[in-house]
Amino acid sequence: MANIEAVVEGLEPVQSELIQALHQTQAEFGWIPPEAVARIAKHLRVSESDVYGVLTFYKAFSLEPRGKHVVTVCSGTACHVRGAPRIVEEFERELKVSAGQTTPDREFTLETVNCVGACALGPIVIADGEYHGQAKTADIPKIVEGCRCRAQGRPDDKDR
Ligand code: FES
Repeated sequence: MANIEAVVEGLEPVQSELIQALHQTQAEFGWIPPEAVARIAKHLRVSESDVYGVLTFYKAFSLEPRGKHVVTVCSGTACHVRGAPRIVEEFERELKVSAGQTTPDREFTLETVNCVGACALGPIVIADGEYHGQAKTADIPKIVEGCRCRAQGRPDDKDR
């Protein structure tokens, strides 16, 4: 793995570099492949289970390939009672994947989280880092299209 070599080469071979190594790997690959775990463990002189222990603790790290776009629907209690399950279903229908999955073309990952701290604005959708409050099922196609437009440098409806 040429790119993981570039990641570890820049790191001191000490355990305190582990989080940095994982962040750089996530940025490089979009996830943490098993080969990267083995290489990082060897370079930092820690066990692979130590590496897995850290990367499963932080939600920022993914053990599976993620899509170019990440759509997150808050399914905490406040968002749930305000209709989050219908929002999740609509995204599942629109993207043709279940929550927790990535589309086969690796364009979109759909995930749920428990409370992002904006309960009064629920249900909340976060698409590529952009928050959409009081989301409605009718908004979903526009949110998906907005991700595609921004990726292609086209203005979406919101920018017009
Ligand atoms: S439950 Fe969704 S923001 Fe708190």
